[in-house]
Amino acid sequence: MRSYSLLASAKINLYLEIIGARPDGYHDLAMVLQSIDLVDQIDLCQLETNTIYLHCSHPEVPQDESNLAYKAAALMAEKFPDAFTKYGGVDITIHKRIPVGAGLAGGSTNAAAVLVGLNLMWELGLDQKQLQYLGSLLGSDVPFCIVGGTMLATGRGEYLTPLPPIDNFYVVLAKYRSLSVSTAWAYQTYRHQYLRSNVSNTSATGHPNLQAYSGKIVSAIARQNQMQIYQLLHNDLERVVLPIYPQVQQLREEFQSLGCPGIMSGSGPTVFALTKSPTQAQQVVEALSAAIPDPDLDMWVSQGTNSSIRVLSFEN
Ligand code: C5P
Repeated sequence: MRSYSLLASAKINLYLEIIGARPDGYHDLAMVLQSIDLVDQIDLCQLETNTIYLHCSHPEVPQDESNLAYKAAALMAEKFPDAFTKYGGVDITIHKRIPVGAGLAGGSTNAAAVLVGLNLMWELGLDQKQLQYLGSLLGSDVPFCIVGGTMLATGRGEYLTPLPPIDNFYVVLAKYRSLSVSTAWAYQTYRHQYLRSNVSNTSATGHPNLQAYSGKIVSAIARQNQMQIYQLLHNDLERVVLPIYPQVQQLREEFQSLGCPGIMSGSGPTVFALTKSPTQAQQVVEALSAAIPDPDLDMWVSQGTNSSIRVLSFEN
């Protein structure tokens, strides 16, 4: 029986700007996305029956058809019925390390790993573009999670332009275990409060005038000006999440007072800050835990990475 073990990276948003509301209920965005080496392990095992099973020991991860990784396998079975019949079903096990409901694309990267893994297991020979298209049917962040690295993302998040990798940097992430924010809620609240339901037509091309939006941080990345990158970190969704979640606001302020400005990733509630060295990152973790001695607060030190989905091992 064939089996594949894959590593799937989380992402952070170095920049997230909401450009307009779309008629389909989504929003046109200009984002800079970055993969980090905080990873889940996804094991795929071929089954003799035409069934999809999913296991995950994390209590907050659904183990049924609502899990995005399950949906990814079901999509592959639907699109490639001959391969599904030939190779059989799949047993998916998710070993969760990426925090859940955190704004770090944990669910999206699991789905991306299933697409990449089944492409290999079923010998489909799909290229990156084809996998990204399938990913876009599952969620806005999935196309990025297929390819990873440092990317400018526009449209719903599915139009990707590679940016130069940012030299050595470390990430301190902080999240209250008991907090999670609904992405749909965050975008809809933003729409009602700031866009007054005006529907833009930027989606006609999917390529709004990017220079007007993310241009400054994109240039800072092109010049490898880390100081400027740190200063240009931005997330529009903070405008709706911070007033409702004071703990997230407090985290942000603590990072700021340590001289290491932090911002929220995605729709939160994870707040992250960038540092130049692992030592500095560790010092920030220690200072933050001293400032907020709350057992509900989890912290991680991670590093930027240029890859997203990696095959760890396989048996054919
Ligand atoms: O695409 P995905 O299912 O990951 O998005 C989750 C939710 O986030 C959507 O239901 C939508 O409410 C919101 N969203 C949005 N505009 C985007 C991406 C996501 O409004 N570009």
